[in-house]
Amino acid sequence: MNDGIRLRYGTVAMLFHWGIAALLIANIVLGLYFADLPPDAWKGELAQWHKSIGLTVLVLSILRLVWRLTHSVPPLPEDLPWHLRMAARLSHYLFYFLVVAIPLTGWIMVSASASGRPTVFFHLFNWPHISVLADLPRQQKVGMHDTLVSVHVVLAWTAIVLIPLHVAAALYHQFIRRDELLLRMLPYRRMRAETMR
Ligand code: HEM
Repeated sequence: MNDGIRLRYGTVAMLFHWGIAALLIANIVLGLYFADLPPDAWKGELAQWHKSIGLTVLVLSILRLVWRLTHSVPPLPEDLPWHLRMAARLSHYLFYFLVVAIPLTGWIMVSASASGRPTVFFHLFNWPHISVLADLPRQQKVGMHDTLVSVHVVLAWTAIVLIPLHVAAALYHQFIRRDELLLRMLPYRRMRAETMR
């Protein structure tokens, strides 16, 4: 804190940000890899890891949203042009949406799967499937499952496009605008307080 204005993200915000980012990227790679494998035990094992990591992202993202709604975060630099301000806000809202919607559609998808295959959370326990979907007639399940696969894939690809843009924006701020926005999401880095207001 400085003069009542928070200059950096706190420890909890950083843990949420980097933890969810790492799990999200790992799950994108895992999803792209396992989805095209021939159906065998190895694919089944990877699918369980994918589902477990994804459900972890869902829980963390909901906690993060609650945390975000109840805590203040550092403001954007005051001299940031309105279009960059809009782009930053939009991309942040889109990320909040994606980190909930991607795993949620995955959970709905497997709940409606006609295979009835359980979701075993990190080999520990069976994660419950959504019972209203699991109890639907087979024909309805097939339709819903197929639609949800498409939605899940489109949302995942939206994240695949958005992540490099987000990284590029952070680098632009750090090395071209030199306003140190990146440093405030990194631990143990000193910032030039005068660049932030
Ligand atoms: C961080 C969260 C998640 C991310 C980033 C993610 C990403 C992906 C990606 C990139 C694919 C491959 C798409 C393609 O074929 O092009 C995929 C497929 C899949 N995901 Fe996820 N996913 C997440 C969470 C989940 C969850 C929570 C579940 C289920 C509980 C799930 C179930 C599946 C299944 C079953 C497929 C294979 C779909 C098919 O082709 O039949 N995902 N996911």
